[in-house]
Amino acid sequence: MSIERTLAIVKPDAVRRGLIGEVIARFEHAKLAVRGLRMVHLTKGEAEGFYAVHRGRPFFDSLTRFMSSGPVVVMVLEGVGAIAAVRQIMGATDPARAEPGTIRRDLAESIERNAVHGSDSPETAAIEVPYFFAAVDLFPGDRSEDRRT
Ligand code: RTP
Ligand code: MG
Repeated sequence: MSIERTLAIVKPDAVRRGLIGEVIARFEHAKLAVRGLRMVHLTKGEAEGFYAVHRGRPFFDSLTRFMSSGPVVVMVLEGVGAIAAVRQIMGATDPARAEPGTIRRDLAESIERNAVHGSDSPETAAIEVPYFFAAVDLFPGDRSEDRRT
């Protein structure tokens, strides 16, 4: 498996409940490295753009109202097989169906207020990472000490 970058979001429900650190710690404990990190309060339109693949679904309006209801923390995570790894650490969309030990099973409130987002494929990650981060905002890791020279 190759080194991948993926986009993860701590959703407004988890930010409100003081779970930013808990979510990031679970990713870091799984050997995923944070390469970009930012707090942002999405507008309804920005949330609609981000979740555009779900436009027309019955939950689209409620989802995008929720995602713009308060600040979120967006991050780029890097590691071997990072895209699938993040999805596994998150657990299934519905916390009631998520495996024990996953973020959603342990921390999420409902199928909508499910604490985290993660890109679901390399194609999705390639769209979602630049939705929030310019290349210049991402830190290269092993060369990070050279970043400002
Ligand atoms: P995400 O995109 O946020 O990582 O979640 P996911 O892949 O596990 O689930 P997806 O099918 O992409 O749905 C996106 C988000 O929409 C909300 N949702 N609500 N009420 C419902 O039936 C329903 N279904 C989905 C959730 O917040 C879900 O994470
Ligand atoms: Mg999804």
